[in-house]
Amino acid sequence: MIDFRALADKYDTPLYVYDFNHITEQYQKLKKAFSGRKSLISYAVKANSNLSVVSHLAGLGSGADCVSIGEVKRALMAGIPKYQIIFSGVGKGDDEIEEALEDDILLLNLESEAEMERVEAIAAKLGKEARISIRVNPNIDPKTHPYISTGLHENKFGVDLETAKRMYIYANNSKHLDPVGIHFHIGSQLTELEPIREASAIVADLVRSLKAIKIEIKFFDVGGGLGIVYDNETTIEPYEYAQAIFSTLYGLDVTIICEPGRFMVGNCGYFLTRVLYEKVNEGKRFVIVDGAMNDLLRPSLYNAYHKVEVVGKAGDESEADIVGPVCESGDFFAKNRLLPPTEHNDLVVVYSAGAYGFVMASNYNTRPRPAEVAIVDGKDRCIRQRETFEDLIKLETMCL
Ligand code: LLP
Repeated sequence: MIDFRALADKYDTPLYVYDFNHITEQYQKLKKAFSGRKSLISYAVKANSNLSVVSHLAGLGSGADCVSIGEVKRALMAGIPKYQIIFSGVGKGDDEIEEALEDDILLLNLESEAEMERVEAIAAKLGKEARISIRVNPNIDPKTHPYISTGLHENKFGVDLETAKRMYIYANNSKHLDPVGIHFHIGSQLTELEPIREASAIVADLVRSLKAIKIEIKFFDVGGGLGIVYDNETTIEPYEYAQAIFSTLYGLDVTIICEPGRFMVGNCGYFLTRVLYEKVNEGKRFVIVDGAMNDLLRPSLYNAYHKVEVVGKAGDESEADIVGPVCESGDFFAKNRLLPPTEHNDLVVVYSAGAYGFVMASNYNTRPRPAEVAIVDGKDRCIRQRETFEDLIKLETMCL
């Protein structure tokens, strides 16, 4: 049990807390599920890019899936070996491509022919052969929130099957491109297996057809997306997930790459915030806390559900919204939840805040971002200090 009150007293609120032992369990569960084949778990750094989190995963043997050169740098700094780092993303700058090639990471995931041309030109300039993989958009509805759904043609991600094949043939004939991998990622917070199996089958067919023309794909990247329980969702068992993918790979000797973010850290993180006061507007009850949408954006942006709890309080529950001090009506953590009466300084825990929490925080309303704390074997450690007002203004100048 994590002593949330002691942590709030020691580090103040709002605060992020991560249970590293839980992260270890998540990693091992997934790695074990894939044990029947060659696999590389490449943690999606975007979910929680704190250096300590990434280095903890590095220690477990994880690779990294990065979407900017900044994330690649973090991964290298955190000790992820370069041959376990992949660089994805729909728009990479020339300088990012150049640096990734200089760093000699495992591969760059490409999402368009235009991008492939840039990578080829930059690799030629550097006298290198770029290891690439192509993101295929299998046109599958992942049945998740439209903002985090990526595998339909109407989304900006990847290329269609025909374009992918053309790109592989081109890359295979290029001196500066080595097409070693294939990639798909149909969405995030997936709770149904069937769309994943379908997507995997479509992409595996393409790999077999490439094999028939002597283009050997070594890495089969199934993206991330495994959902977690926020409320009462039925989620996909890692074992069944792996088996579904295996079932599509007959005749292929590939290393499976999996890029989980949320699964690895989502339920290992907690957001702590204290009650400032309560108010009632024409019968509508609000609990106003010191954390806000700038600290944890998911409820405001996706109307996402996060379980909340007022620590150590019970009694006459009534419906209330938990809201922050930011001047937006969309600034809330929970809506119409049954909550006990609260008073100044009561502690509220927002659950499932380990993924896409701190990383999506901003300084809106000139609010310093929260501190982050790791719990390792029952001991707490600050892994990112709370920002100060001075941090927020240090890059600004008053020109007049
Ligand atoms: N690989 C690719 C290519 C991705 O685009 C993503 C997530 C992942 C892996 C990791 O997905 P995960 O395993 O975490 O589902 N901010 C949103 C989620 C955006 C996900 C973007 N891509 C949220 O808070 O729900």
